[in-house]
Amino acid sequence: MKILAIVGSPRLKSNTNYLVEQALEEAAKLGAQTEKLVLSQYEVNPCLGHDECASFDSCLQKDDAGWILDRFREADGVILATPVYYYNVSAQMKAFIDRNYFLYKHDQKYKARVAGIIIVAEKEGIEDTLHTLKQLIDEFSIEENRIFITCGYANRIGEAKNNLPLVEEARKLGRQMVESLKEGS
Ligand SMILES: Cc1cc2nc3c(=O)[nH]c(=O)nc-3n(C[C@H](O)[C@H](O)[C@H](O)COP(=O)(O)O)c2cc1C
Repeated sequence: MKILAIVGSPRLKSNTNYLVEQALEEAAKLGAQTEKLVLSQYEVNPCLGHDECASFDSCLQKDDAGWILDRFREADGVILATPVYYYNVSAQMKAFIDRNYFLYKHDQKYKARVAGIIIVAEKEGIEDTLHTLKQLIDEFSIEENRIFITCGYANRIGEAKNNLPLVEEARKLGRQMVESLKEGS
């Protein structure tokens, strides 16, 4: 059972990253194989918008999006995690979302049966951010009760770590994802 987390914060010691680590640690304790990919560590360029994906066997952009999307498509469970930037996902996460268009145009299905969403804001914008991430999760045909969501408030590095209820929510998300996968297998 493989759970892959895609992290959209460009800050390495970020609040989002910390919460994802907590979720994955719990998932691993229950037997999941986990992987975390922080988008800012890779080259995931914005979509070029030529809209001719279907004419090509692979995306014309030879960056890291290709292999990341392969893993994303193959994981049993996926986590999408982002800070709120201007009332929505970070630029890194938006580029990743748009690059999924290649899969859409090739009618390539996602394997995941369970999803997690983790969002951190200083004070506002969580709703629109959640809407954006759910639009991508909708492509997976995952039942609503198998989508787990942790949203909370933090700003400076380390603040999420000190927000114990939020940390516990993220840990619970990790456990629930594995339990849901086990139920469904
Ligand atoms: C460019 C930028 C835009 C931001 N926009 C918002 C916003 O619209 N709403 C909000 O509540 N916080 C906003 N923030 C604050 C971040 O969401 C907050 O600092 C969060 O903890 C960052 O998460 P991270 O530590 O995982 O990077 C913004 C921060 C930056 C750098």
